[in-house]
Amino acid sequence: MKLTLRVWRQKDTRAPGAMEEYDVDGVSPDMSFLEMLDTLNERLTLEGADPVAFDHDCREGICGACSLVINGDAHGRERTTACQLHMRSFRDGDTIDVEPWRAAAFPVVRDLVVDRSAFDRIIQAGGYVSVPTGAAPEAHATPVPKAAADLAFEHAECIGCGACVAACPNGSAMLFTSAKVNHLNVLPQGAPERETRVLDMVAQMDAEGFGGCTLTGECATACPKGIPLMSITSMNKEWLRANRKVSRN
Ligand code: FES
Repeated sequence: MKLTLRVWRQKDTRAPGAMEEYDVDGVSPDMSFLEMLDTLNERLTLEGADPVAFDHDCREGICGACSLVINGDAHGRERTTACQLHMRSFRDGDTIDVEPWRAAAFPVVRDLVVDRSAFDRIIQAGGYVSVPTGAAPEAHATPVPKAAADLAFEHAECIGCGACVAACPNGSAMLFTSAKVNHLNVLPQGAPERETRVLDMVAQMDAEGFGGCTLTGECATACPKGIPLMSITSMNKEWLRANRKVSRN
């Protein structure tokens, strides 16, 4: 396959960026999107030009690092990550636009790489459980109802890629934050911090400059792991409950 790529190039956070055009030849339909970018970078390096900076780690749809907007869509397609998107999804001769996540809370570091440390700070605000020190407890010491375990697992699938933020017209991180809050709040192990977790994580989310949720639902559509929109409703319920409890005490 022969493709034309229009790639966002930006030296650093402060420099102005622009789309630059590259022809890429010899692309196999079996290559992943990132392998196709590797092919371009190999050529740029041999020519003495700057390779395109992009984030990646596992290349297996697990780590959430590969944050690319492809032809206007986060990860290029619903229910996938850019590393799991294969070139057979495109046609010979296609022109493809590749951009970084676009959100005020995710500043561009270089080319297609954005700073997603805002997500780390949201996790630090409450994405943990208190555990007693000492010997490891017996595995069944704390019974977890099956429904709660299933719900926790559903939310734990969030890989923190940021596609929800990139897809949202408001740049909202409600889907990400709700996945992380609900994952622990539904479990008995998460009960000691149940109120502080939701209050602190939502406060941190707001402090990071993410936009508000207006329920457009783009986040849930773009999410490669299918975190449902109802997750936001559950977090709002938790937040109201926590506020009532805190104001009563
Ligand atoms: S590189 Fe890890 S999810 Fe794509």
